[in-house]
Amino acid sequence: MNNQSTMVLPRRLGAEKKPPDSKRDSATPSRGNTRLVPKDDRRTVGQKTVDNPRMRCEHVNVYYNYGEKKAINDITLDIGRNEVIAMIGPSGCGKSTFLRTLNRMNDTIDGCRVEGRITLDGKNIYDRDVDVVPLRAQVGMVFQKPNPFPKSIYDNVAYGAKIHGLVQNKTETDELVETSLKRAGLWNEVKDRLEQPGTGLSGGQQQRLCIARTIAVGPEVILMDEPCSALDPIATAIIEDLIDELVKDYSIAIVTHSMQQASRISQRTAYFHMGDLIEIGTTNQIFMNPLHQLTHDYITGRFG
Ligand SMILES: Nc1ncnc2c1ncn2[C@@H]1O[C@H](COP(=O)(O)OP(=O)(O)O)[C@@H](O)[C@H]1O
Ligand SMILES: [Mg+2]
Repeated sequence: MNNQSTMVLPRRLGAEKKPPDSKRDSATPSRGNTRLVPKDDRRTVGQKTVDNPRMRCEHVNVYYNYGEKKAINDITLDIGRNEVIAMIGPSGCGKSTFLRTLNRMNDTIDGCRVEGRITLDGKNIYDRDVDVVPLRAQVGMVFQKPNPFPKSIYDNVAYGAKIHGLVQNKTETDELVETSLKRAGLWNEVKDRLEQPGTGLSGGQQQRLCIARTIAVGPEVILMDEPCSALDPIATAIIEDLIDELVKDYSIAIVTHSMQQASRISQRTAYFHMGDLIEIGTTNQIFMNPLHQLTHDYITGRFG
């Protein structure tokens, strides 16, 4: 884990809202009078549900290798509308696995089985009648390493929309490419070279191109799996600002290994540990006043 022994006050949350006891030394997560939940108690601490969720996960288990290995253990968690929910925890704790259950990307892994119920706007996405192709447009995904298609910038954005039948002619496609690139904060940098290959852009631009491609097919939820870990600090800051904009229109679930990033961009944070969801709460609470010993140890750099 990164050597992060001091806590950083969430940039945006901190600016808007002072922690309950702002006189207390913010370098030490406070426990107040609450006793921390002991390490061996693996029941989720905190509010798992929200009113009117975009997605609702109930008792989700995930197994690999045809049942030999259990990677996710009875997780119940809602994804709210217009929220950024950050998923943190030590490497191998199941963050990516859980994220992939939200758009059935685990279906593509041989020997992987998902149990439980996951709904999008009330509809179980694991029902037999659900077609995963439109599902993955509704719940889009951005990966750690930017992966533009070996096509032009224009075609990278237009491709999915054409396949999904969202555009009928050149004018509509031009419009969609422009609005998607604008929303991804990339338009001004590429508008004069739309015919050039997407792979020729810088890493940060490629990641925004992948976000534009995701936006173009009209998602409700955007999943991001460590989307900045291959980017430099400036490109990272641009993506973080973009996430702040996108949350006005979408629900965003983001896996990050950077606690600073989680504190800057998310409203809620979920802490995972060895396949369990240990704690879920507002980002402010998780970082300033964790309730579980394991969360406390992780955010103070004692574990990982
Ligand atoms: N395709 C796979 N096949 C078998 N085991 C896997 C596979 N992907 C992940 N795992 C295992 O599942 C656990 C959770 O992994 P992962 O979700 O990638 O964790 P994280 O994203 O938190 O690092 C780990 O023990 C990992 O080795
Ligand atoms: Mg991962």
